[in-house]
Order: sequence, then structure tokens, then C-alpha cells
Amino acid sequence: MNRIRYLVCGAILATVVAPLSIAAAQTGKQDYETYCADCHGADGKGNGPANQAIAMSTTPPDITLLAARHGGKFPFDEVVDIVDGRKAIPSHARLEMPFFAVKLQNPGEGFNPASDAAVKKRIDAIVTYVESLQTK
Ligand code: HEC
Repeated sequence: MNRIRYLVCGAILATVVAPLSIAAAQTGKQDYETYCADCHGADGKGNGPANQAIAMSTTPPDITLLAARHGGKFPFDEVVDIVDGRKAIPSHARLEMPFFAVKLQNPGEGFNPASDAAVKKRIDAIVTYVESLQTK
């Protein structure tokens, strides 16, 4: 009897939770395509159309090599900070790269903890997608 209950619960959980995680993955991919691919390229190798269209003083680096350049470990938190942009210290300011924390906010809305958490979630999803692009 209990066994059947577990099976039913498991089935319900699987149908509810699986689509949620797929949706999160899609959002990270979609946000990447919207906010990053123009410069870094759809594959992350730094050959996006913006590089041909506008003369950037800095060529976007190949962000599929981040893990390889960090001893095989993808520097997740560091990339979150880079994408967030607000935590950049002046000497590391990435002038060519827009500050996504600001971009992902609703226009005209100041920073507030609730939307900050939502923005953090989206940035984490984008970075998870960048992680999936890593060259092994
Ligand atoms: C306007 C073009 C542009 C866009 C859009 C852009 N980047 Fe960048 N990105 C750059 C450039 C240029 C650099 C090189 C560092 C600099 O800005 O000085 C860079 C650097 C980086 C780095 C550091 C790489 C390293 O080797 O240290 C990461 C990670 C990164 N970008 C991720 C992203 C992600 C994720 C997005 C989307 C949320 C994004 N970028 C959007 C142009 C862009």
C-alpha cells in the first residue's frame, strides 16, 4: 500500500519538477542568446555578429575556455560577479561589457531585495548555461 503511495508521489513529483528545471535551463539559454551571444557568439567562442558590426577595442574572449584556464574547474562565482557587474572593482572594470544586473532589472525600478533575488536567479541560469558551453 505504502509502496503504491510512494510511486504515485514520485510520478507526480517527476511531472511537476522536471519541466521546472527544463524551463530554468531554457531561460539561461534564452538570456544568453539575448544578452551575450551578439558579442561572445552563440557558441561562446567570441565570434558574435557585434564584433563585425562595431569596432570594439577589446575582442570578447573565448568563454568556452574558462574552465580549462582554471585548472578544469569552472569558476562559477567569479563569472556570476563578472556578469552581475555591480561588484566589479574599478581596476577590473569591464568597460566594454554592459552591467547585466542593471539590464535585467525592470526599467525605472531601483534595486530592491525582491527583484535582486530574481535577477540573481537569472544570472545564475545564464552562468549555468555558459558552464554547459565549456570546452572539455
Ligand atoms: C558588448 C559586447 C559584450 C556583451 C553583450 C557581453 N560581453 Fe562578456 N565580454 C566582452 C568583452 C569585450 C570582454 C573582455 C573583457 C572586457 O570587457 O574588458 C568580456 C568578458 C567576459 C568574461 C570574462 C572572460 C575572461 O576570459 O575573463 C565573461 C565570463 C563574459 N564576458 C561573459 C559574458 C556573459 C555571460 C554575457 C551575457 C550576460 C556577456 N559576457 C555579454 C563583451 C561582451
